[in-house]
Amino acid sequence: MTVEAAGLILPSDVLVIIMEHLGIRDLVNLSYTCKFVNLLVHKFGWSIYLNRNVRPSFTMQLARKRWSAFEQVRYDVTSDRCWTQAKFNAQPLSHPWRSKFQPIIAMSTSVMLVAAGHTIYLYSITDSSSLTDDGAPGISYRGSYSFTDRGEITSITFIPDCHLERTVAVGFADGHIQRVFLPPFQQEQYNNKPFSLPIERSSSLGLRIMDLVESLSCSDDMLLSLSSFGTAGLCNLSSDSLLATSYITLDCRSWSSFICMKSSMPFTAFGTTSPNPLVVHAVTPSSLSSAPFAILHSTRERSTAVYDITDAPPSAPWGSSKQIIVSGWYDGAVQVHDMRSGRRDSGVSGTPAPLRPMLTLRDPWSDEPIYSVSCGGGSSSFVAAGTARHSVVAFWDVRRPTEGWSVHAPGNDSSPVYSLVLESSRLFGVTQSRPFVFDFGLGVTKETYPSLPPSTRPQHDSLRPRKNGIGYCVTQYNHSRT
Ligand SMILES: *[C@@H]1O[C@H](CO)[C@@H](O)[C@H](O)[C@H]1NC(C)=O
Ligand SMILES: *[C@@H]1O[C@H](CO)[C@@H](O)[C@H](O)[C@H]1NC(C)=O
Ligand SMILES: *[C@@H]1O[C@H](CO)[C@@H](O)[C@H](O)[C@H]1NC(C)=O
Repeated sequence: MTVEAAGLILPSDVLVIIMEHLGIRDLVNLSYTCKFVNLLVHKFGWSIYLNRNVRPSFTMQLARKRWSAFEQVRYDVTSDRCWTQAKFNAQPLSHPWRSKFQPIIAMSTSVMLVAAGHTIYLYSITDSSSLTDDGAPGISYRGSYSFTDRGEITSITFIPDCHLERTVAVGFADGHIQRVFLPPFQQEQYNNKPFSLPIERSSSLGLRIMDLVESLSCSDDMLLSLSSFGTAGLCNLSSDSLLATSYITLDCRSWSSFICMKSSMPFTAFGTTSPNPLVVHAVTPSSLSSAPFAILHSTRERSTAVYDITDAPPSAPWGSSKQIIVSGWYDGAVQVHDMRSGRRDSGVSGTPAPLRPMLTLRDPWSDEPIYSVSCGGGSSSFVAAGTARHSVVAFWDVRRPTEGWSVHAPGNDSSPVYSLVLESSRLFGVTQSRPFVFDFGLGVTKETYPSLPPSTRPQHDSLRPRKNGIGYCVTQYNHSRT
């Protein structure tokens, strides 16, 4: 049956139903068959494709609202291809700081925050409406907020504020957790010079712990905090009474936490240094259950610490599920656990029986601990992991887990990668010295990211610009070297 014949014979609603089952190549071919079908693909086909191939992203979200379905598909398909070829633009987002920090990145659809030491650096996502057709939205540096009367910032996360996306919970080394409203900056203030922005603070959140706030995470209106000695607190931000906060004690050195209220069974996961370094506790319905309902093991017997936890890439072959969690381990492995699975260790004492990972990702050339993990990327199927040395980020496509590759961040700082945010076409990361981005999308120009005038301290900076003037050289290697 030729499609032209189909176009004449089949009513358009049947053609639209057929489009729901077509891949990108078939849709393109279909759009070339005749004028009528071409119109139909433009009217329905591309949006159907987009609904079936979600590419979550913070920085692209506002631009995508303005783009036609076809423009969005073109952007996604091109960046998916760049991901499979490991082709991207690498760009540091600032000169190195004068001291070494353990920074954290927090993203919303309008701003990116980098918290380092006593300071929050603010980058805004630029409006692409002023750009040419192919221009992608970029980010530009706006200024910083300083907290000089507190310990260093050790954790930060956006919390709900009627979609303003300007309220964060900030955790400090002295145990305080504060709700902070970041007031908007004035457009004219921006002239590439750093300046301090005023901060509006609300009262401290009821959460108050006596040691360092190692991790904060938020899902819906529930905020989870974890201190370095293992006190976990859960607070309902919509509730008038902050006394409703529920605490449990993990009794071990703790590193990372993750909360998911969107699962059919809401849960929190904790990463610690202990015989059971990754445990999952239920949220029932607004307090933390004190005993774990799942213990997630590694493939190795003596893997002793979990430094970061996140949720799975949305389009992985096992299907999108909130019950899948991805974790970065001390022994250099990234483990993927599916809590729906029955792969339990038998013969191990203790309840519940530990669950084994369904997938283990490893860079065979590095045993460095994994400090940060984030999922998304090309075809929504990538896992990115920031390692403890040489500012290396490792990438795996979960559909081809043995063909991973790694890359040193621009500047090659001899540093861990402390925090990562992976979106459909971009990875944002931060080392002890500065934030950086790898951009796999179309339309990257000299204006997309902050330009860095030659450093006044060149001895600290080993950046080499690329020949085309956009982005910087980075060192990449494949995990399977032949
Ligand atoms: C949080 O508090 C609000 C207001 O009291 C309530 O409607 C909501 O159900 C609570 N959320 C949870 C998860 O308990
Ligand atoms: C970055 O460092 C690695 C080893 O640490 C080295 O192999 C590589 O050549 C360096 N790359 C650049 C661009 O300096
Ligand atoms: C990695 O492997 C791909 C093919 O799988 C190849 O095209 C690419 O050149 C390799 N890159 C490096 C840095 O060896």
